[in-house]
Amino acid sequence: MNNTTVKGFSKLSKEGKIEWIVNKYLGGDDKSVGLLKSYWHEDESVQKIHDEFIENTITNFYLPFGVAPNFLINGRIYCIPMAIEESSVVAAAAKNASFWMNRGGFKSEVISTTKIGHVHFAWYGDFEKLKVFFESIKHKFIEETQNLTTNMRSRGGGILDIQILNKTHLEPNYYQIQAKFETCEAMGANFINSLLEEFSKIFERELNESNFSKEEKKLVILMCILSNYTPECLVRCEVSCSIEELADDPSIDVNVFAKKFEQAIHVANIEPYRATTHNKGIFNGIDAVIIATGNDFRAVEACGHTYAAKDGQYKSLTNVEVKDGQFKFWIEVPIAVGTVGGLTSLHPMVKFAHQLLGNPKATDLMKIIAAVGLAQNFGAVRSLVTTGIQKGHMKMHLLNILNQLGANEQEREKIKFHFSDKVVSHKGVVDQFCKLRGIKNISEINLNS
Ligand code: MEV
Repeated sequence: MNNTTVKGFSKLSKEGKIEWIVNKYLGGDDKSVGLLKSYWHEDESVQKIHDEFIENTITNFYLPFGVAPNFLINGRIYCIPMAIEESSVVAAAAKNASFWMNRGGFKSEVISTTKIGHVHFAWYGDFEKLKVFFESIKHKFIEETQNLTTNMRSRGGGILDIQILNKTHLEPNYYQIQAKFETCEAMGANFINSLLEEFSKIFERELNESNFSKEEKKLVILMCILSNYTPECLVRCEVSCSIEELADDPSIDVNVFAKKFEQAIHVANIEPYRATTHNKGIFNGIDAVIIATGNDFRAVEACGHTYAAKDGQYKSLTNVEVKDGQFKFWIEVPIAVGTVGGLTSLHPMVKFAHQLLGNPKATDLMKIIAAVGLAQNFGAVRSLVTTGIQKGHMKMHLLNILNQLGANEQEREKIKFHFSDKVVSHKGVVDQFCKLRGIKNISEINLNS
């Protein structure tokens, strides 16, 4: 490994950057140059869009873009775009969408759409006095930022509320201006952050011009930033049916299944080790739609995990009720997404994803995403408490193993057929492949060829 540092790397052309990397880190290997360039889009204008999403772009990184059809959500059928690399996720979403389509589908409702942000600051005085002063100048935060809020207000959004909060129970002299926002179709990060920065300036100026003492005028603004924890930007999605209707496999006793399902959710509610994996499975579905629709999956995940711990312990985001012969399963999760701004109008595949969904409003997108998360979790827990997860997972992973081995079309078909009634294991596939090729082990073939 070469430890060479570089100055002005971002100023190099794309070719220049590649040349530098290949010379400094890859021993001048031309194959790497070819590889990187082979992922450039053939249409230069499309490539330019991708180049400009981030700094130092040298190529594109593909993820599969799949669809899960047959999602019946609030009476409308969706074919849902999902961008994800994990083999079994789209298959599971599609399978469980079909399962619930025949049982009334998903009922999704948005509970609230409020976003939130803070000016974090240190101050040295009597909070009650500061609070009274803050209330007297509060109108200025709204009035003096009208230029920033005009468009949002015309769409029905804007600043909902501004408060000053005493946080000295967490840290001496720590306070916040907390503001709540409605950002309509936008995720709203820039809108919120710009306003918070303005609020901090107004606050600083007003404090300086007040008749407070010198000590009371001392204010240290630490930072102005939205919070990705948006518990008031919340969606709930539910599926339900009679316990008898849960049957779709004669080998499964529905009452045993419903009981085990309930216990599995209970375990995720009491045991953080399980809850983490349980919720990870939910985000398999959520993230895939978030990525396909050009939203920020890091923000949505971070928020979901904090929400899962809101009661003081990290728990399941889904819940179940098995009562009076009825099975009811639901998710409640905060999802802050936008349908305008960001990548939504720039990335051609993101535009396509929105089109495929019928150009939903942000609230509709929240409902769709929650349904996918719920379907994903139902599928995972259903497999876990019945067949085990590996059956479906390895079936999908079989194709990855065959690709790693460089199996040709005929070999793929034969091996797929061989495993159609058997449990797939990596060793089993390799053995079968070697048998077909008439070789003792895979070291006899060059996997990179
Ligand atoms: C794998 O990506 C996701 C699961 O582990 C989720 C779960 O265990 O609930 C199958």
